[in-house]
Amino acid sequence: MKKKIVTLCFIFLLCNINAQEKRGGNKDSKEEIKQKVASLLSKMTLKEKIGQMNQYNGFWNVTGPSPKEGDGAKKYDNLKSGQVGSMLNVRGVEEVRRVQKIAVEETRLGIPLIIGFDVIHGYKTISPIPLAEAASWDMDAIKKSAEVAAREAAASGINWTFAPMVDISRDARWGRVMEGAGEDTYLASKIAYARVKGFQGDNLSAVYTIAACAKHFAGYGFSESGRDYNTVDVGTATLRNVIFPPFKAAIDADVKTFMNSFNELNGVPATGNSFLQRDVLKGEWNYKGFVVSDWGSINEMIEHGYAENKTQASAIAVNAGSDMDMESYAYVNHLEALVCSGKVDVEKINDAVKRILTVKYELGLFDNPYLYCDEKREKEEIGSAKNQAEVLDMAKKSIVLLKNEKQLLPLPKKGQKIAVIGDLAQDKNSPLGSWRIAADDNTAVSVLEGLNAYKGNKISYEKGVVLAHGKTDFTLETKINKTDRAGIKEAVALAAKNDVVILVLGENGFQSGEGRSRTNLDLPGLQQELLEAVYKVNKNIVLVLMNGRPLAINWANENIPSIVEAWHLGTQSGNAIAQVLYGDYNPSGKLPMTFPKSVGQIPIYYNYKSTGRPKIPAPNMVFWSHYIDETNTPLYEFGYGLSYTNFKYSNLKLTKTYFKKGENITVSCTLTNTGKYEGKEVVQLYIQDKFASITRPVKELKGFKIISLKPGESKDVSFVIDEKLLQFYSANNKWEAEKGEFTVFLGGSSKTVLEDNFKLIN
Ligand code: NOJ
Repeated sequence: MKKKIVTLCFIFLLCNINAQEKRGGNKDSKEEIKQKVASLLSKMTLKEKIGQMNQYNGFWNVTGPSPKEGDGAKKYDNLKSGQVGSMLNVRGVEEVRRVQKIAVEETRLGIPLIIGFDVIHGYKTISPIPLAEAASWDMDAIKKSAEVAAREAAASGINWTFAPMVDISRDARWGRVMEGAGEDTYLASKIAYARVKGFQGDNLSAVYTIAACAKHFAGYGFSESGRDYNTVDVGTATLRNVIFPPFKAAIDADVKTFMNSFNELNGVPATGNSFLQRDVLKGEWNYKGFVVSDWGSINEMIEHGYAENKTQASAIAVNAGSDMDMESYAYVNHLEALVCSGKVDVEKINDAVKRILTVKYELGLFDNPYLYCDEKREKEEIGSAKNQAEVLDMAKKSIVLLKNEKQLLPLPKKGQKIAVIGDLAQDKNSPLGSWRIAADDNTAVSVLEGLNAYKGNKISYEKGVVLAHGKTDFTLETKINKTDRAGIKEAVALAAKNDVVILVLGENGFQSGEGRSRTNLDLPGLQQELLEAVYKVNKNIVLVLMNGRPLAINWANENIPSIVEAWHLGTQSGNAIAQVLYGDYNPSGKLPMTFPKSVGQIPIYYNYKSTGRPKIPAPNMVFWSHYIDETNTPLYEFGYGLSYTNFKYSNLKLTKTYFKKGENITVSCTLTNTGKYEGKEVVQLYIQDKFASITRPVKELKGFKIISLKPGESKDVSFVIDEKLLQFYSANNKWEAEKGEFTVFLGGSSKTVLEDNFKLIN
């Protein structure tokens, strides 16, 4: 009996500790937080308020050009006088505690700092780049991956990530496509929601969750010619129907912050854009979180030719709704005078500060400013076995099988002589991808290591050609090897005496990401030459691609029997790739972005408009919408991806052929696994609104389901279509579904295989 009581007490104690851990610092209701914020605000001087709107970079990582004012000594002085509300790029419990201590103990009001960091796809344990994760179409896995990132970052003192990037992009030249969810608004909206939920969880003040940030508001993914930071000019229909919805989805997930953007939008820089920030975000959408500027983007309005000087830039930004200044040193230096001279209403300052303080309260920072500073947790959490297992799972789910003609894959596990060729095969850094600032260099499992973990075959390796010389970083392009062919001969000789060649080619981990736009989408450097040379002596090639964006690999598609899209998959890269190549995991990823045949086709995307001349009117007639030197069709379409098994779609059924607003119909089909392996298929639903008050795309993704089937098994898969699913921002300047005819399509990619029509009537 005594023993039982002791055990019960122990369990109770454990649960209690656990519950406290999970709860974290803040237990206040929304109303209580509101009152606390109001009370604190009433005690603050104007200078202290402006301080809360000021964010400084830390002392090491720089993720943008450094401003002149950015010297360390001044930062410390400002910290002490309460003129800093947030810091970015400070990380690790020790360092965070050091700056937090100054804010809490040495300033008059002791307001804690909110510590921001670009936790884009993992903190130290790195998951696949976001574009790769999007290829999984698996919202649970994506949410879990964000949870891992949040847990590790939170254990390292960070309480705010500048993610997710929810910019839609149709331009693979833009390096930042690696950071987003691809080209489709529907898929990206689901992913935005999952990522925010993953970072923030259900309790923001828990010690393992951090605030998220939907960025970059708005239009950044439409930078002209895919050149980063370039001009953006898009009309209302694209803005409302394509660009905005993922931001709205982030709000639905309760995202705590927004970041504005470097680009101008239709003549007005996003940072100074009142339409975006005041009218839409804080007006129409009634958003209550705060908006941080992008790095130095307040000052950049001068270069844009929109503000004459920093004073004017500060006034424009704050009036337009930018609440926090990241690294422009504009607010801290100019806002006070602007308020005193009446150019900025103090109510705008109060509003911004309220928003910022509210998030700090919600994070639990007022109850315990050191909530995220626990050395023990930092040690245990970072790189834990659980985190490694979860990023491995995400990595496998992100792989897309692009071609498997001679059934080279999966590889037999015994008796094969395999040549592994390519610099990227042994690279332990590139698989970490761009935007992984906290990760230690060379900590990814390389493809070679992953393959060597399987013992049954004889594996030999040759580099072939060096991809880039020296340590790659911000000046990468000058280091890509375009002349040194020294290793090609050895690679060819090795290929000739092996049964199968695994060629690992693609982009260095720093060739995509911010500031890494490209005009070519080929295999960089001498890799194409290497590929063709190897092909001459051995045609049994499995090409494993590692890249941060769609590539135009026409030659490979025509000649190489098996192609695997393995992106930059993070820490567990090599293990994930090896498990897929050996068939221990059957790939099920689908492309979240169209792969073009030629850079000249860009922007290329599946949900294009028909135009008035979509088809050739007569043989050899030129007057229709096309190119004279290339087809209109992509190399691999959006939603495309194979499996080791085959799936058959049949039996499309509609419960009705028409429905009224308030009702719905169900569309279904039968999916059959006709191949030899158990596998997963992403069944995709697309709809076309055939005639509308503004022209509508030829089809739009409107639903998807991941279905798992054993060989020979069939399942019926259904989707409910209601009026909401048919809504768009119409010529009436509102979201509505217009009555009329629609086509519904089902299939395993945007090149769908089944279709039927239905009507929406009054
Ligand atoms: C600039 C990038 O555009 C933004 O996404 C990032 O969060 C900031 N730098 C901070 O590093």
